[in-house]
Amino acid sequence: MAQREKKYPGHLFVLEGIDGAGKTEVCHHVAGHLLEKGLDVIILREPTDESKWGKRIRQKSQRGELTPSEELELFIRDRDWNIQNRLLPAMEKGQIVLMDRYFFATGAYQSTSTGIHWSEILKRNREEINALEPDIIFILDIPAEQGLCRVMGRGCETNQQFEKLDRLVQVRQRYLEMAERDTGNYFLIDATLPLEKVVDSVQNVILSFINIQ
Ligand code: TMP
Repeated sequence: MAQREKKYPGHLFVLEGIDGAGKTEVCHHVAGHLLEKGLDVIILREPTDESKWGKRIRQKSQRGELTPSEELELFIRDRDWNIQNRLLPAMEKGQIVLMDRYFFATGAYQSTSTGIHWSEILKRNREEINALEPDIIFILDIPAEQGLCRVMGRGCETNQQFEKLDRLVQVRQRYLEMAERDTGNYFLIDATLPLEKVVDSVQNVILSFINIQ
């Protein structure tokens, strides 16, 4: 796997996937294993629950109170805050950062709601807010039906904005297109496998990337 030009001593690994793909759980398990190995790991997630933009997304989009373009702007503002206040300091300190969603989520989700091509959305993130390129972007891939079932099974409130099947079908498609055509360092993971297998794959790829075994 290609090594990116290193501007910071830290490493950035991103977990992406449709709702129900299991990325949050995988993130926590992988972080736990890396910590056990004595590595300095932190998890960041987007949307944040710290910035005023992230808070606005979490309050309003659940209730369907934002237009698709308002949502797009808020995700980008929230990310800018996260990069400046959380990501860059961690990368400068040499930490391993696991990101539970990043700008690829905006590419996949907001391209379906706004009609703007995902490549344009990625470009905005890269050029307008200088979003740092991850070392690896893991796409936890799962069919939309299965993702939706997992979300419903968790007993979560059904979220009109994000969790409809047809939307998830499109979002999954965008992630797969990105992995094939974008310039980022993508690694596709079969997220229908049991959790331990998914965790092992992600962890092994990360460890071999940073050359610690
Ligand atoms: P979560 O499931 O990771 O907590 O994310 C909440 C929802 O936010 C999820 O349905 C995906 C959506 N989302 C976007 O639509 N665009 C984005 O840029 C991000 C980070 C999340």
